[in-house]
Amino acid sequence: MAGSRPKDSESTTGRLWWRDGVVYQIYPRSFQDSSGDGIGDLEGIRRRLDHLEWLGVDAIWLSPCFPSPMADFGYDVSDYCDIDPMFGSLDDFDRLLADAHGRGIRILLDWVPCHTSDQHPWFQEARKDKESDKRDWFFFRDAKPDGSLPNNWLSIFGGPAWEWDEEAGQYYLHSFLKEQPDLNWRSPGLVSAMHGVLRFWLDRGVDGFRIDVIHRLLKHPELRDLPVIPGREGHGYGGLEHVHDENHPDVHASLRDLRKVIDEYDERMTVGEVYVTDPNITKDYYGKGDELNLAFNFALVHAPFDAARIGDEIARFDALVPAEGWPDIVLSSHDAPRHASRFDHPRFGDDRARLAAMLLLTARGTPFLYYGEEIGMRQIPIPEDRLQDPLAWTLHPNASRDGSRTPMQWEPVAGGGFSEGDPWLPMGDSERRCVADQREDPASLLWLYKNLLTLRRASPALMSGSFRRLEAPEGVFAFERLHPEQRAVVALNFGEDPITLDLGGGAPIGGLTTTYGAFLPPDLSSVELTEASGLVALTGASSGA
Ligand code: NOJ
Repeated sequence: MAGSRPKDSESTTGRLWWRDGVVYQIYPRSFQDSSGDGIGDLEGIRRRLDHLEWLGVDAIWLSPCFPSPMADFGYDVSDYCDIDPMFGSLDDFDRLLADAHGRGIRILLDWVPCHTSDQHPWFQEARKDKESDKRDWFFFRDAKPDGSLPNNWLSIFGGPAWEWDEEAGQYYLHSFLKEQPDLNWRSPGLVSAMHGVLRFWLDRGVDGFRIDVIHRLLKHPELRDLPVIPGREGHGYGGLEHVHDENHPDVHASLRDLRKVIDEYDERMTVGEVYVTDPNITKDYYGKGDELNLAFNFALVHAPFDAARIGDEIARFDALVPAEGWPDIVLSSHDAPRHASRFDHPRFGDDRARLAAMLLLTARGTPFLYYGEEIGMRQIPIPEDRLQDPLAWTLHPNASRDGSRTPMQWEPVAGGGFSEGDPWLPMGDSERRCVADQREDPASLLWLYKNLLTLRRASPALMSGSFRRLEAPEGVFAFERLHPEQRAVVALNFGEDPITLDLGGGAPIGGLTTTYGAFLPPDLSSVELTEASGLVALTGASSGA
């Protein structure tokens, strides 16, 4: 099938969308409901494309929208080649893709290769029939001779990683919920079925995939017991050394095969969720430019609001990503508390979120925005009787990720313009914070995002310049992005006091401050930054130190 493709390409614009552009993550349940059932859907997303086009993003990543019993809200897939009726149909998907492509916006799907739903026909067949060719697509094992579980692995979502299945007469492995049986990537049949899934969507015209928990794709072939970290006995998942269930070296051969499938198509890409915080591990997933196109750098999702720490993490990843690769930067996601809340300070209102926006959109690497961050959406407290995330039960109510998944706040009305029905999670206060109001206010965070995106798109230094950290006083993270045609200097004052800096001189020819109405300094040898504020200044390539 000849699917929809965008009109522009690197050969016509000189700009490669996933390297030079910006990706926006949508959690489909929470973006826009068009049916009135209180749950977002694909047609809703299509109707909101105006917002994304106006903002100036290059691509959207849709968290899973495939058929699913929703035990883990779509990360338990029961059919990889269809759309859950809750979100619409394949026709709705095609319409969304065509409309997005018409506006030059790409779409990434969220591919979940490590586990299916226990309702997936593959699992249903495998559990019933020992002789089925699907049996080894999963990990069915007997108890150890002493009757104990097949090994000591634990589920990331709590409890043992093994579930007894009466029908199968064996245990099966699940790294997450028991409703999410792990898939065996050492089985050639499974690999070829999964490559078929990728081709199904690539043929339809999708631009690439965010890949779920890629660092757990392959396990030790013998599923060996994990060593217990001395002194951490009884500490659950964190008490084990994950040497056989995560980052197994064999994952790289699988990734190279996967990359070959992606590269059969033009300008498609993968970004992998390597959920580790050590960039020394993350960097390996780029291979020699023949594995993932991007591997998420999660270091900042957990970093405090601290100039030195954030500067160190950015510099470290930048230095580690191989020359054939390209970094990325992410502050928030559907799995973590929103950064505007993490960074909140009673004195600063949105100032710290503004500073974070500048960091995200000026550092070297592809920025990933999480829906709602452009208006500074905060964590929304969820009453216990409205909790949805299974982690609230399998781990602890505090582990629930619902607070960062609440509906997008579009308009200052009840329901937030998100839905005519009862939203599946409580709405934040859209009368105090919403897209419509911020669109009217040039001093808003939303406009700062738009202005930064516009500046970035027009600036070769910000899009593709090299990165060099600049010396700066305590509390300030400053860096340079250098391109043969242009230099960008960025200074971010994370501190609680104003500061004056010398950024090497030169007169800016363009740029922005996070403080609405503030002027760019005439000379970069003396730059004043108020507390929790930042500046990006563009100069000719040769100016400055
Ligand atoms: C990572 C996803 O981001 C998360 O939301 C999900 O719960 C787990 N993978 C399990 O699929």
